[in-house]
Amino acid sequence: MIMYLNGQFLPREQALIPVEDRGFIFGDGIYEGVRAVGTKMFEWAWHADRMENGLKGLRINFNRAQIDALEAVCERLVQDNGLTDGEAFLYLEVSRGAAPRTHFFPPATVPPTVFVSASKLVVPRKMRDEGCSAVTFPDMRWKRRDWKTVNLLGNVLARQAAAEAGAYEAILHEDGIVTEGAATNVFAVIDGVLRTHPLGERILPGITRMVLMELIAEHKLPLREEPIPFAQLDGASEIFVCGSTTDVTPVVTLDGKPVAGGKPGPMTVALRDAFEARLYQAAGTAR
Ligand SMILES: Cc1ncc(COP(=O)(O)O)c(C=O)c1O
Repeated sequence: MIMYLNGQFLPREQALIPVEDRGFIFGDGIYEGVRAVGTKMFEWAWHADRMENGLKGLRINFNRAQIDALEAVCERLVQDNGLTDGEAFLYLEVSRGAAPRTHFFPPATVPPTVFVSASKLVVPRKMRDEGCSAVTFPDMRWKRRDWKTVNLLGNVLARQAAAEAGAYEAILHEDGIVTEGAATNVFAVIDGVLRTHPLGERILPGITRMVLMELIAEHKLPLREEPIPFAQLDGASEIFVCGSTTDVTPVVTLDGKPVAGGKPGPMTVALRDAFEARLYQAAGTAR
């Protein structure tokens, strides 16, 4: 496995970071997760926008041109790791760098740590087709969830609760509303209308969600970009979660109870299929 670290392509064993790296000490960094189909990064520009916004938010010195240069790094990692045949997942992280521990920023001369890795993505077709189980879990994260920081404890604990319940995802809620999933955005159909939490500081602006917004408009599906009241989730006629490794995955069991008869609903299926068409078309490959 070849990885990219601070300008070098290295075997995994040699890709080492100092113990004083602020990503390790403080979770002081921004990451991205990008889907590759063949050699092409899906919706790179949107991922780069989100990364730029997070890095600006944290005031980490890594500009747009530097972010954009990572697209070629991702492509090379896909090639060098022999992943061009199928699908891959690219993980990118930029931390504030390594320096003696102080809560305040280190001197501006300390360079950020830049890391990229590629791994094979095996798409779980059965789960896409038949749906997954989810649990509900309190959203205990900090207030700037629109910045994709490496601080993921609220997400980690939620996903662990899901795993312990034999479920795929945890759907998070706070103050009586559904925010998003532990690593996905959430949509539900309530009274025949698609609903999802509006963009803002309380959720991550998912790239898959953005693509879906375009597809919803194209397919003229009814949508209210409004928070889903947690109390109404039980009565939803469809629920699905979406993300770069999740695509559109129907939720057919919630907290152990079937959602709308335990089968993917019609809007979910329409969007799942439209999303896959877009994903594979964009890369010029067949599923
Ligand atoms: C909290 C959270 N919400 C939503 C998403 C989905 O975002 P994307 O579609 O860009 O993968 C992710 C992806 O990792 C996530 O971690």
